[in-house]
Amino acid sequence: MALRHIVTVGDSVLTKVSRPVTQFDSRLHLLLDDMVETLLDAGGVGLAAPQVGVLRRVVVVDTGEDGILELINPEIIDQSGSQTGLEGCLSVPGKYGIVTRPNVVTVRAQDRDGNWFEVEGEALIARCFCHELAHLDGQLYTEVAERMLTPEELQELTEGEEAED
Ligand code: NI
Repeated sequence: MALRHIVTVGDSVLTKVSRPVTQFDSRLHLLLDDMVETLLDAGGVGLAAPQVGVLRRVVVVDTGEDGILELINPEIIDQSGSQTGLEGCLSVPGKYGIVTRPNVVTVRAQDRDGNWFEVEGEALIARCFCHELAHLDGQLYTEVAERMLTPEELQELTEGEEAED
């Protein structure tokens, strides 16, 4: 396993549409292992393959209590409700925006061996599903954000985090 470099906004790989995974082989497993290691190292909630420069439909999500979720060829098959809140991206460092997303999202995806399954996410995880799947279509949250936080708001946010520590 190895850490992969996270590409940032301005790199054209982030604007391209990723191809479906067709081979559930050791190369895919290595990519998944590396993406999980990279996500945990970066302290993010989710990571999509294009963010490490690989244009394949692969996403990893750190759900917290329920551990790491690996989503291959994921699609949203159901969604309900609405939430408006703060969103950031490892590929857009130092910025946050206000984004409205569904509050509950059901995703159909394959696991690393190609088996299809369905998973439901709520609140932060639903937000993460929407955000990461959009990466697979070359879309960043900054395109759908109602607005980005101002430098003053960012400073307050950072100070709040420091106070929590
Ligand atoms: Ni992102």
